[in-house]
Amino acid sequence: MDKIVIQGGSPLAGEVRISGAKNAALPILAASLLSAGTSVIHNVPALRDIDTIKRIMSRLGISFEIQGNGLAVGCEQITHHEAPYELVKTMRASILLLGPLLARHGKAKISLPGGCAIGARPINLHLKGLAAMGAEMYLDHGYIHAEAKKLKGTEIFLDIPTVTGTENIMMAATLAQGVTIIRNAAKEPEVQDLASFLRAMGASIDGDGTDTITIEGVKELHAAHHTVIPDRIEAGTFVIAAAMCGGDVTITGCRSEHLTAVIEKVESAGARITFKEDRISVRGPEKIESVDIKTMPYPGFPTDLQAQFMAFMCIADGWSMIRETIFENRFIHVSELRRLGAEIEINGGQALVRGKKELLAAPVMATDLRASACLVLAGLVARGGLTEVHRIYHLDRGYEALEKKFQKLGARIWREKA
Ligand code: EPU
Repeated sequence: MDKIVIQGGSPLAGEVRISGAKNAALPILAASLLSAGTSVIHNVPALRDIDTIKRIMSRLGISFEIQGNGLAVGCEQITHHEAPYELVKTMRASILLLGPLLARHGKAKISLPGGCAIGARPINLHLKGLAAMGAEMYLDHGYIHAEAKKLKGTEIFLDIPTVTGTENIMMAATLAQGVTIIRNAAKEPEVQDLASFLRAMGASIDGDGTDTITIEGVKELHAAHHTVIPDRIEAGTFVIAAAMCGGDVTITGCRSEHLTAVIEKVESAGARITFKEDRISVRGPEKIESVDIKTMPYPGFPTDLQAQFMAFMCIADGWSMIRETIFENRFIHVSELRRLGAEIEINGGQALVRGKKELLAAPVMATDLRASACLVLAGLVARGGLTEVHRIYHLDRGYEALEKKFQKLGARIWREKA
């Protein structure tokens, strides 16, 4: 198993290019199977989660082939309809195949994702939405069995604006009979990117990016070409890293409008940030001011950057309050940050961080994807030796060559066999 080793203390400088968004590419690949053709998707990041969805889709009869700089997804035939436990347990987003399989194939058998390190993460709202559209579902031996001869459009209110739940229902509704209205829908850019792809396939969708999405079902969809949006979480990770390490970094191939809440907070901490077209330039502050954050659904501060921002606040001047409102257990990185000397108190969904002059290098253990990124950031500023981040398979799920990108910016970071 690999580990990442970091000798902290180098300022970052130069340019870094952002990859395609994992959380947009996953539903877009799943949506490809709504048509019986070959869609070509560009800007698909090279990540473990992408390999996982490809492996599951291959078992359904779908073929993948590199075509120029795109990924051709051949969906002419669906031969199976099962997403097995051994793959779903490594990636909860496999549930994104439920809506498309039901809509195109009329049947799906998907392993029920269990809880994960950041929370219980139920999928009741996905199931409630699909049941309201006429799907018959039951749970047996850990699998959701779902069937629907023809889904029917209806009005669905989501108690929580779930991202993958909105995506699942939206995908299913494209081939349903009649109109589906999703109220309290997720507004994330990844939902909008999926809607753009579905429209390119011939779907009729309105209102994505707002909390009411209307989908008018069509008889069939056709294959399409699409370029996945840049990963706002990867971009945000570099914005925070640049501000944390000092120096001057330009993040290219990104969309600053997807990061408004994050940029505002990093500027409040003292960094100077400028934008031009698809570039964000960050100059780190002399002194890092402490700033409070509260995670919220988009366009609020993303939960997927909470851990990285906490690492930043560990070396700020003063106290900051970090509130997590999306997942009930997303502070597991705290005990690892404490190993580097951070002072953090947790009280329910709130973490009070007392900024220190410096963090001290130590071995730490990654526990989930974003927690791993937080530990890498902390390692980049930790003094007095080498920080080793273990269990980085979590990191490889969602960051493309993170250590190489940091190396290019001048960081002393490398991968070793543990
Ligand atoms: N929830 C329910 N019932 C449901 C669905 C969700 O109670 O049926 C709750 C969850 O337990 C959570 C809240 O609603 O407390 C929001 O969860 P959501 O469903 O929006 O999360 P998700 O769709 O499972 C996606 C991303 C996550 C990201 C969250 C929040 C993908 C593949 N995953 O998950 O990304 O943190 O939205 O923005 O899009 C990551 O990339 O590291 C990651 C965890």
